[in-house]
Amino acid sequence: MDKDHRGKVTRDGIRIYDTTDFAGMHKAGELAARILDEMIEHVFPGQTTAEIDRIIEAKVTEAGAKSATIGYRGYQHASCISINHVVCHGIPGDKKLKNGDILNIDVTVIVDGWYGDTSRMYVAGDLSRKSERLIQVTHDALMLGIEQVKPGNTFGDIGHAIQTYVEKQRMSVVRDFCGHGLGRVFHAPPNVLHYGRPGTAARLEEGMFFTIEPMVNLGRPETKVLADDWTAVTRDKSLSAQFEHSVGVTADGVDIFTLSPAGKFHPTYG
Ligand code: MF3
Ligand code: CO
Ligand code: CO
Repeated sequence: MDKDHRGKVTRDGIRIYDTTDFAGMHKAGELAARILDEMIEHVFPGQTTAEIDRIIEAKVTEAGAKSATIGYRGYQHASCISINHVVCHGIPGDKKLKNGDILNIDVTVIVDGWYGDTSRMYVAGDLSRKSERLIQVTHDALMLGIEQVKPGNTFGDIGHAIQTYVEKQRMSVVRDFCGHGLGRVFHAPPNVLHYGRPGTAARLEEGMFFTIEPMVNLGRPETKVLADDWTAVTRDKSLSAQFEHSVGVTADGVDIFTLSPAGKFHPTYG
């Protein structure tokens, strides 16, 4: 029987994976994270996002893996690259990066059938104080969400930790996009909201695999999708940032599958 037809699914439709399945997620997550590590040197003023995407696709192929995004609902690229006021799902293209541009690179790979999904922030050239603060707050919000991951807590606890922290910094959490279950599929239940109330939504159980991927705006939270049907931007044109990890719930906490092998997840790379 196929692996996906074994095992338990909660009444919320969330699959519970085996302890042996964590190894597969680690392999996929590590490849995605390593590719993001290797992209740091390719982000600079004058570079195009199409070229960055081309390099990512080559690295995925070279590793003997597959891109999860090429062919996904008609998407044709190995990454999403979202610059400045683009919230997510930016399409790689021929526009050149300018000094001071901030960008999110989001990569999802498939290794032996397991999905590794992660994204982080980069800067082309010089990082302004304002952008640095946005990036720092977004990164810290993700890690505060991850701190809530343990059996017995709820998805509402994760969202609440992210939302209260971000709003205390006078920034806003995007509501229109969320994290998701993953494993041997790209997007599965639950929707992992980056806002919420403590104790609400489904309870976390050992063996759940999902992403947390908060998008934080300097201005208002509203977004709109451009005519290309992918690119999501802030309605008020304010800057937006995002970080994403794929994680698993362990017996007593969390296992992060997409940690940077080089320790370079954080944008200042210090
Ligand atoms: N990697 C994105 C996520 O975090 C999804 C991208 S789908 C694409 O879920 F088609 F836009 F690539
Ligand atoms: Co994701
Ligand atoms: Co992603």
